Amino acid sequence: MTEHLTVVRHPLVQHKLTIMREKTTSTASFRMLLREISLLLAYEVTRDLEMGVKTIDTPICPMEAPTIEGKKLALVSILRAGNGLMDGILELIPAARVGFIGLYRDEETLKPVQYYNKLPEAMGERLTIVVDPMLATGNSSAAAIDLVKEAGATNIRFLCLLAAPEGVAKMRERHPEVPIVTAALDERLDEKGYIVPGLGDAGDRMFGTK
Ligand code: URA
Repeated sequence: MTEHLTVVRHPLVQHKLTIMREKTTSTASFRMLLREISLLLAYEVTRDLEMGVKTIDTPICPMEAPTIEGKKLALVSILRAGNGLMDGILELIPAARVGFIGLYRDEETLKPVQYYNKLPEAMGERLTIVVDPMLATGNSSAAAIDLVKEAGATNIRFLCLLAAPEGVAKMRERHPEVPIVTAALDERLDEKGYIVPGLGDAGDRMFGTK
């Protein structure tokens, strides 16, 4: 991937995202749509995986058939909303290793503080896809990427559902080599750090909390 930011403008992604944004959409529908979109975003974020060939026998004859080669994948979810994106991706890539990073925002410093960090081994040998539905200020995403780099990852991508320009700028400043794939680039953040127009709090909408 060479672009710093890829917006997936596929009609299915955009249509489903519109339903997710609507405030009347139920928790059950929101979760189902997020799973469906995550499959389509996974298709995009993996479109240039390294390919090789292997010899197989079809019922008709032997053939040299394409197969995914190269680095093994690690999916890293930023808790808790990242899990909603990750579940769908794991359906497509069930052999991927999975990591979790938990961060909360210190109310005084407004900086992300780590409370959980469990990553697969051999991160240096993997393509790592960090997932979080909302790239808002970019503080927690950039901090999560610091942590996967500390664990040895060098080949990293970031997958989200919605991005704010502020978050994209923060990622470009802190991790310019990490490509971002998103379904939409929204207008801005509001004074509370919510993406505008956005879809509200992704975790609350996904899990039915307030
Ligand atoms: N996190 C969310 O869940 N929603 C936003 O709009 C911003 C950050």
